[in-house]
Amino acid sequence: MDDRPPEELPDQDLLHLPTDRQDLETLYRLANVVHSFQELQPLLENLVDLAIRHVNAERGVIFLRDARGDLYPTAARSLYPSELVDAQKVALTVVQSAVRAKESVLASNLQTDPRFNSESAIHYNILSVVCMPLLRGDNVIGAFYLDHGKRPGAFTERDHNFLKAFCELAGSAIEAAVERERYQIENRYLRQVVATEADFSEIVTNSQQVISILETVDLVASSNVSVLITGESGTGKELIARAIHFKSPRREKKFVAQNCASIPETLLESELFGYKKGSYTGATHDKPGLFEVASGGTLFLDEIGDLSLSSQAKILRSLQEGEIKRIGDNTPIKVDVRVLSATNKDLLDQIRKGLFREDLFYRLNVVTLKLPPLRERREDIPLLARHYMGLFCSRMGKRFAGFDSEAIEILSSYAWPGNVRQLKNEMERLAILLNEGELVASVNLAETIQQAALLKPPEAGTSKMKEGLEAIQRKMVVEALQKYRWNKTQAASDLGITRRGLIKMIERYGLDRRRKPR
Ligand SMILES: Nc1ncnc2c1ncn2[C@@H]1O[C@H](COP(=O)(O)OP(=O)(O)O)[C@@H](O)[C@H]1O
Ligand SMILES: [Mg+2]
Repeated sequence: MDDRPPEELPDQDLLHLPTDRQDLETLYRLANVVHSFQELQPLLENLVDLAIRHVNAERGVIFLRDARGDLYPTAARSLYPSELVDAQKVALTVVQSAVRAKESVLASNLQTDPRFNSESAIHYNILSVVCMPLLRGDNVIGAFYLDHGKRPGAFTERDHNFLKAFCELAGSAIEAAVERERYQIENRYLRQVVATEADFSEIVTNSQQVISILETVDLVASSNVSVLITGESGTGKELIARAIHFKSPRREKKFVAQNCASIPETLLESELFGYKKGSYTGATHDKPGLFEVASGGTLFLDEIGDLSLSSQAKILRSLQEGEIKRIGDNTPIKVDVRVLSATNKDLLDQIRKGLFREDLFYRLNVVTLKLPPLRERREDIPLLARHYMGLFCSRMGKRFAGFDSEAIEILSSYAWPGNVRQLKNEMERLAILLNEGELVASVNLAETIQQAALLKPPEAGTSKMKEGLEAIQRKMVVEALQKYRWNKTQAASDLGITRRGLIKMIERYGLDRRRKPR
């Protein structure tokens, strides 16, 4: 292309008169570009170059939409290869108008064009402009912008029509490349997830209680005994069940988990035992149940404390006989499953109340593993917190620097009603918010966790001791507030606590400026 400064260019009419032949040549090149460049950025740059040359524009920019739907310049090129284009210094009003109206725009002198009143035209010295929205169906995926700063009327109606057709074709290639890129990013993330999945099934602990559970897991894994795993929600019951399966000779076959609490009785039974076509409305084909699917492997029945008595009877019969019958079918099917089960209910209590069958209990409960809640093994908290922060950060491509000491202290003293599951979720949240390389501080922790630390009663204190301490605390707060005439920032700093901490105490002790404190 011509690389000389514009003043030396020959007269515009001689320079730029596309012919049918040139149109065909450009379309041929377009087909080539679309085929040769699969990646988005090089594709866009080649498309801009091609259009610039065809209509002899000075500059060209392709805008695309970002995830939020805002337009941003992706490829900006100049007729003169050595010149860098600042994509901010183009006539954005024209681009926005083309996108909004879903109509292309041709202006032969933008500086005097009454439609636009474009300040940037004068500022950045822009005369001729042509801009096409990139449409896919009814959606605008971006815009193709070309301008010329030296010549008014640089683009003709003929150019305009050609460019519209050009953008039709270019648009679908761009859309495909955008899709491909999005897919690649997603794919890369999923690969990460898959690659780290093994790490996520690792059992991390420093607790003597859990270590001895793991020793029992090793002992029972090789046999076929039924194991009942108890413990609060989120303590790792399913994780232990999986560990038993994957350490057992059944590991090559399936591990199938069914939550017995989450679905109604009839649905649960059709899940577990399967059904024959036509056995009820909607049973349009035969379906094997989970007992069959897990045959040779392990069936994990979660939340068995919530089984109805009738389901309990059916499960017991299947276990005793080693065979099941699909609903609506009388033919017995042999199954070979190892059953592991879990509950956070007290089954002995359920038996006493007549809600759980004693015979099923003894069938399921050959070995019991009782997982302690996290608050009873606080030594695991920093360990698990660091473990999961490390994993989530690396999945997100961030470096994890650690926790500051106050944050670790608060995490370690928190009660974790949701146990490891809650801790893991909190770590994921922190990892998302974390700035690369920064320590996690106490202010980053979830509000509820911070508040709990504030309100936490002194550990192991008798209630008398607690009351005494609270009285002292209240007195100190009242005095500090009076001293600083309820300036909370100063009072908090005097007390050596955070302002938010002070506000919590004011609420807790029901203090009010207008009322004289007791
Ligand atoms: N000791 C542990 N080490 C690592 N992760 C754990 C541990 N205990 C539980 N988890 C994780 O916590 C989450 C909840 O565990 P899960 O087995 O589903 O609990 P439950 O079945 O008792 O509700 C899972 O993501 C699990 O991987
Ligand atoms: Mg569970």
